[in-house]
Amino acid sequence: MKTMKYTASIAAVILVTLLFPARSEGQKQTGSLPANIIIDTDLGKSVISRHIYGHFSEHLGRCIYGGFWMGENSTVPNTRGIRNDVVEALKKTRIPNLRWPGGCFADEYHWTDGIGPREKRPKMVNTHWGGVTEDNSFGTHEFLDLCEQLGAEPYICGNLGSGSVEEMSKWVEYINFDGVSPMADLRRLNGRDKPWNVKFWGVGNENWGCGGNMTADFYADQYRRYATYTRNYGDNRLLKIAGGANSTDYNWTETLMRDIPHGMMWGISLHYYTTNWRKHGSATQFGEKEYFETIQGCLNVEAALDRHINIMDLYDPGNKVALVVDEWGTWWDVEPGTNPGFLYQQSTMRDAIVAGVSLNYFNERCERIKMTNIAQTVNVLQSLILTDGEKMILTPTYHVYEMFKVHHDATLLPLDINCGSYSMNGSDLPALSASASKDVNGLVHISIVNIDPGKEIELLIDLRGGNYTDVSGRILTNSQLNAHNTFDTPEEVKPAAYSEAKLKKNILSLKMPPKSIVMLEVK
Ligand code: AHR
Repeated sequence: MKTMKYTASIAAVILVTLLFPARSEGQKQTGSLPANIIIDTDLGKSVISRHIYGHFSEHLGRCIYGGFWMGENSTVPNTRGIRNDVVEALKKTRIPNLRWPGGCFADEYHWTDGIGPREKRPKMVNTHWGGVTEDNSFGTHEFLDLCEQLGAEPYICGNLGSGSVEEMSKWVEYINFDGVSPMADLRRLNGRDKPWNVKFWGVGNENWGCGGNMTADFYADQYRRYATYTRNYGDNRLLKIAGGANSTDYNWTETLMRDIPHGMMWGISLHYYTTNWRKHGSATQFGEKEYFETIQGCLNVEAALDRHINIMDLYDPGNKVALVVDEWGTWWDVEPGTNPGFLYQQSTMRDAIVAGVSLNYFNERCERIKMTNIAQTVNVLQSLILTDGEKMILTPTYHVYEMFKVHHDATLLPLDINCGSYSMNGSDLPALSASASKDVNGLVHISIVNIDPGKEIELLIDLRGGNYTDVSGRILTNSQLNAHNTFDTPEEVKPAAYSEAKLKKNILSLKMPPKSIVMLEVK
């Protein structure tokens, strides 16, 4: 009996040495050994800001009108015009912030058109998005009411492209000044006594394109002017965000980091969508080749973000300026029969995998990335929620956000993955993506994505630096890559309890089903 025990423990030591050799980055799993992850649960340093899990709502298609806003007279249950079902659903994800009013719309938006009695507000053409009439019934007060109902921080993007320094300066005064002044008095006249104390403030959007077609040098100078006159009022400190680069425009990031004093900006934004601009492709009708290319594209985005981060590190080694990825996600063809300018698309398991892989990446880079905003929250691009009149459904992407909320404001834990590849036509992608955090109560959360659509992956996780005795989990998966929720089948893709992970002597063992996202909680 004793000998058997001894032999078994030697075998265990050999296995652990084989599986968990000294830590080194980017190892590749060999042979048919299980994949493995090492997590140092006592060595976390950086906090994963909850704002990494932020959102974006533009006056585009049915995001605002029909998505958030129905108006007070609607038969859809609402609170002061804002749909209750959408607010309740987003609160379950603990939505931390909401960016508004654009996007490209922001640099054509004049905030004074969206205040005062609704019937008197001027109408405008939404030139970017379908040429529809914007009646301005959803403006500053409605947006900030929405944020209060959600319990989310507002992130307002001001108009630098076609507005003026004075206009932006007055908007901040209108929103944030508590004393007597023309703008604060106007706010009171419109029914709001106390200021909102908005913090996150974007100074223009995509100013290299729809926001004015500027050069990086010109924008950097403009930013300095606009940022000068967007004032702090009372104790409130504006966290100003410079309009950042498009995808791989590293020169833009470098120019801003070099030419804007770092004390003048809290962050620099960046927009990078996972798409093929020549041919977006269908959101739901795709094969494994398109799936592989999508995940490859998503990993290319990560590689590009790393290069932007390297530039920021060069100019700001202390991580004072945040990278704010305030537009990202998948961009497919619009659903057949819908307005091409409305960017209404479905969201499948493929989108959920993109969300899971991207959020793991953002967690891992939380020293620099302090905020991201997936595009967009409701009815536009990779949305969390789709609505149709009074009906509402949650997309697979929604479920990823709801599962990953445990990472909000938790401490990132160092993690090494050693896994095999998911390969196609000579290209290899790492089959697993993961990140781990420890929350204020000491609970460890591990989010793992198996991107391989056809292969189950056996996985061992070595939890170092603590004693853990209990594990529970949830899983999001489906037999079909293009599985999605519809108004007729709203629960085709939804999370389920996952009890397959076993914990023994601080080693977790589990099998990750193909195309699955698992969230483990260990204590
Ligand atoms: O999210 C849709 C659009 O994509 C935004 O308006 C713009 O900023 C970006 O090009």
